[in-house]
Amino acid sequence: MWAIAAADFGAPLELVELPEPTAGPDELKVRLFAASVNPFDRKVVDGMLRGSTPHVFPLVPGTDGAGEVVGSGERIFGTFFHHPVGIGTYAEYVTVPAENTLAPLPDGLDPAVAAALPTAGMTALQLVESLGDAESVLIVGPNGGVGSFAVQIARAAGKRVIPIGRGDSLVEADALIDLVSADRSSFEANARYAPLAFNTNYVSSDPAQNFGMKGSRETLVRLASMVQAGDLEVPISRRVPLREAVDVFAGRGPGKTVIIM
Ligand SMILES: NC(=O)c1ccc[n+]([C@@H]2O[C@H](COP(=O)([O-])OP(=O)(O)OC[C@H]3O[C@@H](n4cnc5c(N)ncnc54)[C@H](OP(=O)(O)O)[C@@H]3O)[C@@H](O)[C@H]2O)c1
Repeated sequence: MWAIAAADFGAPLELVELPEPTAGPDELKVRLFAASVNPFDRKVVDGMLRGSTPHVFPLVPGTDGAGEVVGSGERIFGTFFHHPVGIGTYAEYVTVPAENTLAPLPDGLDPAVAAALPTAGMTALQLVESLGDAESVLIVGPNGGVGSFAVQIARAAGKRVIPIGRGDSLVEADALIDLVSADRSSFEANARYAPLAFNTNYVSSDPAQNFGMKGSRETLVRLASMVQAGDLEVPISRRVPLREAVDVFAGRGPGKTVIIM
């Protein structure tokens, strides 16, 4: 099969031909239709999990995707976390433990749209739900994957959204979702503007401010329903054929990048 992979930590992505992965006990083998790109994928290639969990090389990144289970033909989408790390969704086939967060791919839902939803959509939905009855929310990084969903979901929940793009000044608000700060001092400077504040990069000294998405099938089903009802737009800025996907970590636009198999 064809896949996009890195030969080592920090190595550039390359188009490679690999044997199809073999499903182990309690694993599914999936023929992928589409995979979406998340910052986590680049961080894994850069070695974020080095030393904490086994990896295989060439390392195929990618946790989000939509496809068809080989054998049953069931069409699914969701997250595909595999251990060891490196059997990811930037490939024609992937294997995953069946316990992953997977949901049926609804008829009529574009697989590329479904593939764009899992990590960014579940994170955005759960972040907005964490805001309780806060009436106003600053969203730092509003145009990326998580931000573009969070802005829509917060507005639909009746909140006044104050998007903070590059160079924008913060103002006081009831809540803050910071999708950008990569260090504690940047986040703490932003958190001064809101009594309730979350970041997604685990940079706060207060664990309650470090938001971690919890995958759930129910959340995936809700997201797909929102899209199908026209209540959530999935902003896909780039659709890249797998064989041309070596540059997906660079040159991104707003919203999501999706690899089409
Ligand atoms: N903890 C969790 O469970 C969890 C879950 C999902 C994501 N995350 C993390 O959350 C972060 C955001 O994820 P994502 O998928 O939304 O990433 P993304 O698609 O790359 O979007 C990030 C956005 O932030 C913008 N940005 C960068 N620097 C900025 C600045 N100084 N001011 C305002 N905007 C700025 C980027 O704009 P440009 O395109 O102009 O650079 C981009 O639009 C990533 O670090 C990701 O790893 C964590």
